[in-house]
Amino acid sequence: MSVKTMETQEVIELLEKVAGFDRPAGNDRVKTIIHRVMHDVFQIIEDLDITPEEFWSAVYYINELGKNGEAALLAPGLGMDKYLDIRMDAEDEQAGLAGGTPRTIEGPLYVAGAPMSEGFARLDDGTDTGAEVMLLKGVVTDENNRPLANAIVDVWHADSKGAYSYFDPSQSEYNLRRRIKTDAEGRYLAQSIIPSGYGCPPEGSTQALLTQLGRHGQRPAHIHFFISAPGHKHLTTQINLAGDKYTYDDFAFATRDELVVEARPVTHSAQGERHGVTGPVTEVEFNIQLVSTDRQDRQAMHQRQRVMA
Ligand SMILES: [Fe+2]
Repeated sequence: MSVKTMETQEVIELLEKVAGFDRPAGNDRVKTIIHRVMHDVFQIIEDLDITPEEFWSAVYYINELGKNGEAALLAPGLGMDKYLDIRMDAEDEQAGLAGGTPRTIEGPLYVAGAPMSEGFARLDDGTDTGAEVMLLKGVVTDENNRPLANAIVDVWHADSKGAYSYFDPSQSEYNLRRRIKTDAEGRYLAQSIIPSGYGCPPEGSTQALLTQLGRHGQRPAHIHFFISAPGHKHLTTQINLAGDKYTYDDFAFATRDELVVEARPVTHSAQGERHGVTGPVTEVEFNIQLVSTDRQDRQAMHQRQRVMA
């Protein structure tokens, strides 16, 4: 069956009524968006000859997705977070704000309000005794490589099983989450543990769809960052550790070449020892370059629903 009804007066009027165009109440922006969304959904049904069975399976899929709390997990899996990044990169280019360390997706697992430290912080609570000790370090500079003192490096990552505190209630509060203020030379240093990559819940809605697409739902080991400094563009980014099976095959499309970082085991670290970190450690160095701007809207992170925010 292949019928064409999209151009009929009946469907045109139906879409206008669906979007509330014939009523003064409501929000014009929402009306415009919903009109376009429903037009395109109808168009997909027509163009791909979607059967009622396919349509209703999609409706109940959305029900399951919401019940499992996975909408913000499916979004990066379908490239939506990456697409927003592509748009923001293009906007930066247009506004003359390109350059510096590249952005990449935030993901849904940030928790606001992590404890603040000056120069150095220990991120882990010491309970994961089998984990590999990590020394995470770097310098925050401006685009002319001048160090930025008092920049805030807000860092969060998973534990050695790939789970995040708050979302994994077995972990202590703010475990593997800290804000570090850079010192006079723009440096930050963190003692932590090497995180593990992780995957979507195997029985969840996201993995169910990815399986239909012949895709996996795995992420490589990675570390998330927000970096901010007055007079500079806010940066949301993350690093993927080199050598992970999924470093260049991230289901969430967060990998960028400039954000792949080696983890280097060393027998001792003089910088670490000054903070009581003795013995062999794995060093991860991530230097961050911010772009200066006097635009307040670019200095702050964009608004979205976040835990504890
Ligand atoms: Fe993550």
